[in-house]
Amino acid sequence: MEDKEIRKRVEQLRDQIREHNYRYYVLNEPTISDKEYDQLYNELKRLEEEHPELVTEDSPTQRVGAPPAEAFERVEHPSPVLSLDNAYNREDLENWLKRIGNLNPEVADAGFTVEPKLDGLTVVLHYRDGVFDLGATRGNSEVGEDITENLRTIRSLPLRIPPTSEGPQPPDYLVVRGEAFIKLGDFEGLNRRLEEAGERTYVNPRNTAAGSLRQLDSSLTQERPLTVLIYQIVTSSEEIPETQVQVLESLQGWGFPVPEYDYCPDLECVLEVINQWEERRDQLDYEIDGAVVKLNDQELAADLGVVGKAPRGAIAYKYPAQVVSTRLESIEVNVGRTGVLTPYAVLDPVEIGGVTVRQATLHNFDFVAEKDIREGDRVEVKRAGDVIPYVIGPVVADRTGGEIPYSPPRKCPSCGEPVEHLEGEVAYYCVNLSCPAQLIRNVEHFVSRPAMDIEGLGIKLVEQFVEQDLIKDVADLYYLKSEDLLGLEGFGEKKVNNILGAVQESKDRSLEKLITGLGIRGVGEVVARDLAERYQDLDELKKSEQEDLEEIEGIGPNIAWAVVDWFQQAANLQVLDKLKTAGVWPVSRGESQPQVPQSLEGLTLVVTGRLPGFNRREVTEYIEARGGRVTGSVSGNTDYLVAGEDPGSKLDQARDEEVPILDEDELRGLAGEHLSTEGERKGEKSD
Ligand code: IVH
Repeated sequence: MEDKEIRKRVEQLRDQIREHNYRYYVLNEPTISDKEYDQLYNELKRLEEEHPELVTEDSPTQRVGAPPAEAFERVEHPSPVLSLDNAYNREDLENWLKRIGNLNPEVADAGFTVEPKLDGLTVVLHYRDGVFDLGATRGNSEVGEDITENLRTIRSLPLRIPPTSEGPQPPDYLVVRGEAFIKLGDFEGLNRRLEEAGERTYVNPRNTAAGSLRQLDSSLTQERPLTVLIYQIVTSSEEIPETQVQVLESLQGWGFPVPEYDYCPDLECVLEVINQWEERRDQLDYEIDGAVVKLNDQELAADLGVVGKAPRGAIAYKYPAQVVSTRLESIEVNVGRTGVLTPYAVLDPVEIGGVTVRQATLHNFDFVAEKDIREGDRVEVKRAGDVIPYVIGPVVADRTGGEIPYSPPRKCPSCGEPVEHLEGEVAYYCVNLSCPAQLIRNVEHFVSRPAMDIEGLGIKLVEQFVEQDLIKDVADLYYLKSEDLLGLEGFGEKKVNNILGAVQESKDRSLEKLITGLGIRGVGEVVARDLAERYQDLDELKKSEQEDLEEIEGIGPNIAWAVVDWFQQAANLQVLDKLKTAGVWPVSRGESQPQVPQSLEGLTLVVTGRLPGFNRREVTEYIEARGGRVTGSVSGNTDYLVAGEDPGSKLDQARDEEVPILDEDELRGLAGEHLSTEGERKGEKSD
């Protein structure tokens, strides 16, 4: 390239990087992948290294990120909040080690830690005399934004670090750095609640976390399930521990949540741990985009210094992006149980991280309109963990002109009745109470585990029952007879008996579960529990007025109205009559429901393989809800290994270490599930 051309390319790269920084750091809406960004950044860095005369003070390589938004106070960081250089393969790591080994041969014996690279936002937390008194975003690496009030709302963030009984005492002045993010399960829960309330759902955990941290009203942040993990001491009034392992141990000892980590003596071990994290990536309850390799010896790491804005003593190993682009064949519409219509993309099948993706959510019709997503577009799709893949947006540059702009349907795709859309609201509804798609979803919800928990009644059977006109509402389940089912395809006597038995058995479920099952808009498990505590039975709840309901903590006018409205619909009253006649009429205990028994408290479990009744996140939630801890690998601290189908090497490890092995049923037994269900029923009857 000629000098003039190089100068032009440098300018062009700077403009592009500034634009992407702005989108990423200020708008929280990146339009390119990290890898593409890194390529631009690295090209600029290389050109500037080759032509130092072209470096300017305002080049993006001279500072990281964009300036803080004006509405927040500025916080000067005690030292620059650095970023990391990236590696993508073994060779990159070898080159890194060679480079730093040449600078200081002690690197060869320094050892490493390997931590997950959490895909969230950097936060810097200041503690004075053991009290959290300031928290900031990274901003431009020198100056961040004061988001103290927002950070205070994060439950995993310690507001106080009291003196410890063993290990080093917390320093009087301590500044730590970590990552704030939203766990995938929490994100899904948040969206489920919003969907139930007919409100707009969030697009992905990272953007939601970023937006939540930068809320000017911290009460809004409080409603978002943010989490933090802390991995670095930035500054301290005491000496910083000698090794990264000690840093993490000290932080943990002072009450900070820290990421899982491994110590590795050499590169082979580092690569093995990196691979293990990549394999676990899909099963984690949080998103990671790589692993961070750090020299364990912190003094040595500090001596190696900084190049640009990245310390030499650590590197980020990036995994392949879970984003790919593919053709969007068509936009189809799903009808939910409350009649909400949701668009989804039918894709030209594409592999993302070893899984073939054929469909992806498009969130809601506003999203499709805002992003101007068209049928025939090439779109970017992301799949992370086992959340439903979602469309990020169209690749506008690839348009050929044949793409078809989209408008929301005027008729319900299931029953053909007109669709309702209130001006200013996000949701489009099918309001036809006998819409078969809604009925299927309603019954599916009614029989689900958090509701009436009718075993063996999956979506396929529900569809069959609705299509064969065997049920017209949820109460009809209790009027099914053997002869109705015996004629259906694939139904033998045993299957029929099992299903009818499970339906009968569900008559004993609690009022809370029945209320959950009714599918009232905005009434999920939590609100149902509150209602079941307050009201004796559904007759009493039916008589409640808007104001009575609003008195209950956690119930606002929208939910209160939805409850009152539900009990005014003739079709719903008919369902209640039928339930009562069938004997499905639980009476509340009228007292606070017991929390889930902490039957796994103090136990550390490892899960491997596919379990019949849980996906990976559900089993983790199940164990954690009962006080247990789930870790990723079998060690001397593991109390049980829960093994399903295709268990992999953990099973051998557990056998070697003589760790007891459980299947799903045994796990439920250990958790005391059978006992607690019995107790619950006895409690109800004796009332
Ligand atoms: S250490 C000076 N450790 O990755 C090194 N960073 O550029 C400081 N990140 O923005 C970073 N997980 O927000 C470190 N376990 C981890 C991390 C981690 C995620 C983020 C961090 C930073 C980016 C690297």
